[in-house]
Formats: sequence, structure tokens, C-alpha cells
Amino acid sequence: MRLDKFICKSTELTRTEAKKLLKSGVVKVNDVVIKDPSTQVHENNTITLNNGASEQTLSARTSRYIMMHKPKNTICSNVDEIYPSLLHYIDLDKAFDLHIAGRLDADTTGLVLITDDGRWSHNIISPKKDCPKTYRVQLRDKITQDKQQTLLQQFTQGIQLQGEKELTKPAILKINTENEVLLTITEGKYHQVKRMFAAVGNKVVGLHREQIGTIKLDDELSSGQWRFLSPEEVISCK
Ligand code: URA
Repeated sequence: MRLDKFICKSTELTRTEAKKLLKSGVVKVNDVVIKDPSTQVHENNTITLNNGASEQTLSARTSRYIMMHKPKNTICSNVDEIYPSLLHYIDLDKAFDLHIAGRLDADTTGLVLITDDGRWSHNIISPKKDCPKTYRVQLRDKITQDKQQTLLQQFTQGIQLQGEKELTKPAILKINTENEVLLTITEGKYHQVKRMFAAVGNKVVGLHREQIGTIKLDDELSSGQWRFLSPEEVISCK
């Protein structure tokens, strides 16, 4: 982690204030004064701040891991656009230092994982990690009995999305009713679920994420509510 970021994580200072502090030569890493904010530091470094009379050892606040039930008409970005960022719902200090691990569209609801641990979120987002995400999908057109087998095969074999070179990775489709399915995918291409159904001539009219890896959206959380993940839930994505 960059030294200026470490200082922000372990104090109330902003990034600009941390850089100023560094410039003034009061920060030491392993007993050596360091002024360059981009210096990489690790948990086992001793980082001290000389505040005149005494030296204070800084320890980074531990990372935060959160699940949230995303409401409709919010966006998974740290900046508000047409709709507000869902980080506004998180009544924590420095909530906008957090980021969202795997974005949902503004009209999609359900499970969102939020953290300030970039390595952890990489395990969820990176296509190389094959982390499964399950969506409850409401469809415009009925999947009648006669179409079910073909559809299941198409989703297992991979769908050709418009503008993509390769087929989608094998997905698991479970047909709940003629208008509702559960779809599990391991990728996160732009509007992937909507595009997969568009490619087979249907249309998604409701989308809700229920699960990421083994983490399920907590039934106790109503739309807009959040909670910290349990240690077991955090470890499941490491
Ligand atoms: N796929 C979509 O099309 N939209 C989402 O929000 C998530 C997955």
C-alpha cells in the first residue's frame, strides 16, 4: 500500500493532508524519514509519526467488509451520476474510501459486496477467479416446456453476445417458473445477464443478485440496509 494511503487509513487525515505531513519530514518508516507519498509499505513495517514531543506508531485500521441489499435507482460507483451512489447508505466514517466489488446496473437490486481491501475484491471481480454470482431473473417471455431443454443447453454451452469474440463461459440455469429463472455465471461482462437473454430472443424485466461465491444476501436486510460480513464470509473470498 502507498505510504500516504496508509497514513489516511490510520489517522483522520485526508490524502492531501497526509502528503503535506510527509513533506514536512515527520514520518519514519523503519526509523528512516520518508517523504515520498508513493513509497510502498507493508503490515510488518514500523511507521511512526513525530509530533514534536513524542513519536506515535501508526497502525492501519483493519479493512472493512460489508454486504448491502442494493435498492433500485442507485449506482455502484463512488461518484453520483443520474442516480446516487449506494455508498450514501453506509453511515460509517470515510464511507467513500470503500469500493464496490462487482457492479450492478442502476435498475438491478440485491447483493453487493463493499470493501476497502483491493486484493479481496479482485478475487470476486477477476474473470480468472471464476467466482460464481447467482441472479434471480424475471423474463418478459414465457419459457414454455418445449423451449426449456434447448435453453438449458445454450446456457451450458455458452452464448454468443453481440460485440464479443468468445462465447460466455458455461452458466447454470435453473427454471423456477415460466417467467422466472435463477442464473449462475462466473463472469461479469457489461450488462451480461440482460445481453444473454437478449441473445436468445427474450428480455430481462427484473434482476436481483442473490449470491456471490458462497455469500448469500441476508434475508434480514431490507432494501438499502447493510451489515458487516462475518469472518467466515470474509475468508470465503480469500
Ligand atoms: N448482468 C446485468 O445485465 N446487469 C446487472 O446488473 C448484473 C449482471
